[in-house]
Amino acid sequence: MNTELHYTDAVAKETAPIFDLLKDQYDADYWETIAPYISEINRLKKEKNAVVLAHNYMTPDIFHGVADIVGDSLALAREAAKTDADIIIQCGVHFMAETSKMLCMDKKVIIPDMDAGCSLAESITAEDVKLLREKHPGVPIVTYVNTSAEVKAESDYCCTSGNAVQIVNALDSDTVLMIPDQYLAQYTQGHTDKKILTWQGSCEVHERFTADDIIQFRERYEGVQVIAHPECPPEVLAEADFAGSTQQMIDFVENEKPARVVLVTECSMSDNIAAAHPEMELVRPCQMCPHMKKITLPKILEALQTEKPEVIIDPELAERAVIPVNKMLELS
Ligand code: 13P
Ligand code: SF4
Repeated sequence: MNTELHYTDAVAKETAPIFDLLKDQYDADYWETIAPYISEINRLKKEKNAVVLAHNYMTPDIFHGVADIVGDSLALAREAAKTDADIIIQCGVHFMAETSKMLCMDKKVIIPDMDAGCSLAESITAEDVKLLREKHPGVPIVTYVNTSAEVKAESDYCCTSGNAVQIVNALDSDTVLMIPDQYLAQYTQGHTDKKILTWQGSCEVHERFTADDIIQFRERYEGVQVIAHPECPPEVLAEADFAGSTQQMIDFVENEKPARVVLVTECSMSDNIAAAHPEMELVRPCQMCPHMKKITLPKILEALQTEKPEVIIDPELAERAVIPVNKMLELS
């Protein structure tokens, strides 16, 4: 632990409401080791006019303890575009921080671990997109936001899992290239009359779920509602009751209030919902995103203290990459 941080009476009092929410996730001894980080991060955020944007896959100590805004990729991009903070601490993976940066180039965007990547973002390069355009002239390219700035710069529109169908259906073309997630593309194909072409990328976390997993949940947990992320393979989505972005999954749970539910997605989603809804039974199939889990409270504190590592994008690249992102924000 950072030597200046101690679990004082003041820290205990200040963080008591958060511990009350998280007491089923963390025991009291462990809480004493993390509460000083929560307290110091929250103090430093105010001092530096910084905002913590946290993805729904952050662990409960981050999600409920230090985040100012939580949400899916779309919500975080929208918040980045309108924040009046001087510093954005992006608790999520690199493409999210890059998206925030291109939306507000005048602000400092910091990611607590620069190595927090994404298998989808790594599955395609700008050169690949150029070749696809040559192969399919005139076909609009809709690129998942889980990609690098270089890939976005070669694309016509961006989309997230929350608006992919809406973006594709808004286009004036019978054929659309959706890259790089083959499963999001197949999910979209099921909700549009257009012909969808795709790429062989996939999420290393969601591709691990199988239809058999879902069949077994239903056998073992009577009446369980199954909700899944569209990055899952189509045979998994076919067995689910609902598919949507991480925020749409949370909204579904909060609106429908199922007594028993399974979230077919990354582990921390269930932990965060369980903390907010102790009355709900969450069946927890755990598939962890190793990239998201690189973000921790000590790294967030260090990032705030040092204002590093900063996400830098070449201004000319950012100018091109932000065009499809803005088109997406306008259309959704
Ligand atoms: P959402 O936009 O649905 O939050 O998804 C981002 C992601 O990386 C899911 O794996
Ligand atoms: Fe990327 Fe999958 Fe991790 Fe989301 S869960 S950040 S898509 S590797």
